[in-house]
Amino acid sequence: RLGQLVLTVETDSTNTRALDAMQAGLTTGLFASEYQHSGRGRRGRQWVSPLGSSLCFSLAWRFNSGAAALEGLSLAVGLALQQALAQEGLVNIGLKWPNDLLVNDAKLGGILIELSGDAAGECQVAIGIGLNVQLPEAMVEQLDQPCVDLTQLGYSGSKTQLLATVVSELIHMLERFETSGFAPLRSAWEEANAFRGREVALTSGPRRYEGVCLGVTDQGGLRLQTSAGQEVFHGGEMSVRLQ
Ligand code: BTN
Repeated sequence: RLGQLVLTVETDSTNTRALDAMQAGLTTGLFASEYQHSGRGRRGRQWVSPLGSSLCFSLAWRFNSGAAALEGLSLAVGLALQQALAQEGLVNIGLKWPNDLLVNDAKLGGILIELSGDAAGECQVAIGIGLNVQLPEAMVEQLDQPCVDLTQLGYSGSKTQLLATVVSELIHMLERFETSGFAPLRSAWEEANAFRGREVALTSGPRRYEGVCLGVTDQGGLRLQTSAGQEVFHGGEMSVRLQ
């Protein structure tokens, strides 16, 4: 299923490479780079990763559906990563809605999904993944949240091995998602939900909501028990509520 494999030492952002290649006609491909000088994170943030500190790659994928059908995609991708890491012996990885990978509430990696060409019922999607491999100490001190890397977790495999396992799991997951959507994956996602039953705050645009994290819906929305009752959210940033 993989049409193109592009491995570079340096690029701007592997997501940009994937989106550009799809604009030029590519159907599927894998773009990995040792270094990105303009890496992007979610919510308009930068993804800064000095050379050798993380495994950065993007999968280019074309869906035969509009963007509306892809709401649960980021959760499915998180689940594929969690399952791939378990295959590599890393079994205590939790998922944070919509798609961070956590170990004891510290961030191990993130996912950035970007879409283009949602016109004729078809979507071109760049699934960008950054996994912390070995973060420099000076960088960890500057980050605004606790982070962890694969070296600290004692991972002894190579980046190539990890990439191969993740990509194979991801392709399998995307094929499943294309035919059945997120609903059949929901219970596995809930198993890995790092915030289940915990008091959380959700920032969505200018608004902030507080409640207990109940889980997710069949479409991938976040279910919170707030003072107004059970509510479902479709976008935003969740954090553990500090008492
Ligand atoms: C986040 O947690 O904010 C998401 C981070 C996603 C980073 C990856 S690294 C490979 C791909 N290329 C990018 O520019 N971003 C994603």
